Amino acid sequence: MWNEELKFTAFFPHSTFLVPNSTFRLVRVRRLQDMIVTIDGPCGSGKSTVARELAERLGFEYLDTGAMYRAVTWKATETGVDLEQDTDSIAELAQKVRIDFYDGKNGRRIICDGRDVTTAIRSPEVTRKIKYIADEPAARKAMMNLQRAHAKRVGDIVAEGRDQGSVVFPDAEVKFFLDADIKTRAERRLSDFRSGRLDIEFDEVLEDIRQRDMADRARPVGALRCTESMKKIDSTGMGVEEVVSEMANIVRQVASSC
Ligand code: DC
Repeated sequence: MWNEELKFTAFFPHSTFLVPNSTFRLVRVRRLQDMIVTIDGPCGSGKSTVARELAERLGFEYLDTGAMYRAVTWKATETGVDLEQDTDSIAELAQKVRIDFYDGKNGRRIICDGRDVTTAIRSPEVTRKIKYIADEPAARKAMMNLQRAHAKRVGDIVAEGRDQGSVVFPDAEVKFFLDADIKTRAERRLSDFRSGRLDIEFDEVLEDIRQRDMADRARPVGALRCTESMKKIDSTGMGVEEVVSEMANIVRQVASSC
């Protein structure tokens, strides 16, 4: 029963722990100091992999904000919203949608309004249409509110996404900007695609990244940017383990000085 309950990280904070109270029933006690770590960076920089591993190493919750944008895009497509024209419906949908994360047997599952959309949100169609959600200020605001509320509920968190340190959690205790040169990023994307058996060439991936970089940096709200308060890590030529260790050391140093 307890294990089942604790799997629902959206409802039951990760940074709480169970202690017996006077009647020997287990109750949850919140830690005094919660810590927010953000990882911003461009497409293909390895943010998701690194954020997941870092969170696991530190015992923090992991928030994949790209998955939230994907879930809203999926829902809008599913319900027939005209993404090119109907910004009011996009805003309304983003404000009403419910997104939960569930750690199941096969890893992290994303639940959107009660439907498991973990696989559906990775489709090329969703990826192509995300820009209509990501460029819509009211939708971004709704996502920001959900992300902040989620962080408040779960406590210690590693939040990953293009605007996490710059807009959503500007006062986070540790803010990273993870980058890599564009060819390295394209190679990483290509190997992701190939492991998913998608037939795609290097030049196509490189061009796609170029386009996404431009769109991410030019977005009127929530644009990708490396601010002065972020610790920049260039992961070109570095493995995941090396990047995660460097980040974990920085987080531990900051935590010990708090
Ligand atoms: O990280 P990802 O590829 O799953 O993100 C999908 C899209 O969502 C990406 O093209 C840009 C958008 N996004 C965003 O605008 N802001 C975020 N915090 C996360 C993702």
